[in-house]
Amino acid sequence: MKIAVLASGRGSNFKKLVEAVKDGKIKAEISILITDREAAKAADIAREFNINVCYLPFKKFPDRDAYDRKIVSILKQEDISLVCLAGYMRIVTPTLIKAFKNRIMNIHPSLLPAFPGLGVHKKVLEYGAKFSGATVHFVDTGVDTGPIIIQAVVPVKPEDTPESLAERILKWEHKIYPQAVKWFTEDRIKIDGRIVTVEKASYDSLPVIPSLEDF
Ligand code: GAR
Repeated sequence: MKIAVLASGRGSNFKKLVEAVKDGKIKAEISILITDREAAKAADIAREFNINVCYLPFKKFPDRDAYDRKIVSILKQEDISLVCLAGYMRIVTPTLIKAFKNRIMNIHPSLLPAFPGLGVHKKVLEYGAKFSGATVHFVDTGVDTGPIIIQAVVPVKPEDTPESLAERILKWEHKIYPQAVKWFTEDRIKIDGRIVTVEKASYDSLPVIPSLEDF
């Protein structure tokens, strides 16, 4: 199975996916990294691991739809089965979503449906929420509204800053994203409307549901 990753920034989640493939935990190939930012650290990571990098500057396209049509053509050409958004800071259009229905995953640093969008950790702290976490979900046409695959919960502490909370959550992102991708490659993820279940997974224990198996 061939996987494409779309990333705009630091690329720590991308790196965890690459390492899980390299370690043989995920039996798939990460064929391409597509980025909208030339300076994305994710691109350096891709080059380090000999992964094809495609830099697509948004300003070269007339609109979002044309941009995503180009992405779809690249993904088809590369024979991609799964698209992973990993810190990809663009809104994905219906053009891309329809072409890869239930085959685009995203990682979001909150317990969705709470705190979608950007600036999440600051919003969590200002709201006074006592839990936050991370979510891997399939991407639909809304912003962070797609069917949820796996979530991890973390405490929010009185002394937290957006940075300290982000760091606590990121550790779990690095486990739940590779786990979700592994389940996908094993064809264990079943989707019924917006209800996702992972076959033979355990739904019994915190802080991650379904329970981690490999990460
Ligand atoms: C991660 O925390 C990810 O959850 C978040 O951006 C960060 C990217 O870090 N994504 C979003 O906020 C998407 N709305 P990374 O580049 O090191 O993986």
